Formats: sequence, C-alpha cells, structure tokens
Amino acid sequence: MTTGLDRRAFIAALGGATAVSLMSDEAKADALESHLMAQAGSASAPSAEAASAEKFPTMAEIESDVPNHPTRKGAGNLFVARAGNVPRLDRMSERPTLADYFKLRFMATSNHCLQSANRAMKNGMSEEIILACLLHDTVQELIKVDHGWWSAQMYEPYVSPKVTFAIRYHQALRFYEDLDHGYRYPDLYRRMFGSDYKPEPYIEQTYQMVRKHKWYLEPRMVTVNDLYAFEKGVNPTLDQFTDIIGRHFRQPQEGLGFDGSPVAHMWRSIAMPDHPL
Ligand SMILES: [Fe+2]
Ligand SMILES: [Fe+2]
Repeated sequence: MTTGLDRRAFIAALGGATAVSLMSDEAKADALESHLMAQAGSASAPSAEAASAEKFPTMAEIESDVPNHPTRKGAGNLFVARAGNVPRLDRMSERPTLADYFKLRFMATSNHCLQSANRAMKNGMSEEIILACLLHDTVQELIKVDHGWWSAQMYEPYVSPKVTFAIRYHQALRFYEDLDHGYRYPDLYRRMFGSDYKPEPYIEQTYQMVRKHKWYLEPRMVTVNDLYAFEKGVNPTLDQFTDIIGRHFRQPQEGLGFDGSPVAHMWRSIAMPDHPL
C-alpha cells in the first residue's frame, strides 16, 4: 500500500476488514483512490500535489511483474482465490434470476456496481443508464479482460440495445477524459495499466466511433458514475432497483443459463464454476 496511508483508518472507512475482503481488487484500488482524494481535501478533483505524490508504475514494470503471480490479471473473480483457497459456493436454484446471481455469485463485483447505480440514481440518470451501471462490471466474475464486450454480450438478450451499448463501450471510454461531462482520467488506470499506457488501436477506433455516435452519452454516463463511490453508512441494496429491473430486464422463465439463448453458457459458467469441463 501507498506510503503515508493510515491503513487502519482506511479499512475502518470502508466498513471494516470483512467488507474489504468482499471487495474486488478494482473496487479496493478505487476506494484507495477516493480515500487519498478525501485526505487531500477534495472529493472530486485531486490537487496537483496529491496527484504527484504517488509514483505510478510504467508499462514495462507492470509487464515484468506478470511471472510473479499464479493467475493472470484477466481471470474472473470466481476462479481466483484472493487469499488462501477458493470458498465453497451455495447452490443456485433451478431457475436462477438476476437477483439470485447478485446474491450468490456476484460477490466481488456487486458492491461496486450497486454503488455506481446508486450514484447514477442520485444524479438523476435515466433508468436505462442506472441499469447499465448496475450491470456494467458483473461479468468480471467470469472474465475481466475486455469486460465491456463480454458483459454487453451476456446481457444482450435481456436488455434494450441502448443498455447494451452503454455497457459495451464504457470500457473504452474509461481511457478518454471528457471534462465537459465530468469524467477525469482515473489514477487507478495509471496504477493498473502504467503511467505511459496508450490504448491499443481497437480501443482507440472504438472510442472514435462512439464519440460521434448519437448514444455517446449512454456509456459516458456509466464512466461518470463508475468511480468507486463508497459513502460511509450508505450501503445500497438490490431492492432499490427492483422496479427498474422489472421494467427493463427480461428475466427468462427457464432461468438465466437454462433458456437456450446464445449466451446461456456464460451464465452457466458463473452458476457452476467448479465444473472441471
Ligand atoms: Fe468497467
Ligand atoms: Fe466499474
């Protein structure tokens, strides 16, 4: 952890060690970022001194660290133990709903996604943007690399094209600042991708297409509400989004994973990640 950080105060601010153990690495890194920003005296714009206080790794340093880990960074949360061994998972019902997945499988991503959707709701976003925020990173339980595309594909049969668009392209837009709409390039990305990282051509081409698209603001608003927004004492639950899910998510009667859709296998892989084949 960063030098000068009061580790105990940081963990306490996040709701204690148990709450922290339930957070994804991304959520922890984002939380660390907002904690450092709060220490710097501003919740939205870090001062120049605060921004320069941390030395970010270079791409070469990040790459040279790859062989020091038993798993790759792109592996989904369900398939990797963050400490010790992987836990035993509760069985899912025969016809699992989105709410079942949130409760029993999205353990590492749900807090971050609920926080983002909660922020979008407070900011008066449309119901489709709130839903996109709620779902945007949940596929990271299965796979992290290119998660915007994976996530959009997994939700495509069940949500509107606008929600799919917002989820798919939030990933690319995270790399491009848009201060007019309140999005600043996050220090988290300097930490994760390297201070000298330039997005690959497919990300750049996607960005160029999306910024000219009539739906540009849909994924942009996901990025604006995406920053990890832990507020002390505020723990949003899925209940507050039940109506929005009911209006905008087509829950299949047979259950997610068992409806014969082209993405059913993705849901089954999340439901049964211990199957060896
Ligand atoms: Fe994301
Ligand atoms: Fe996110």
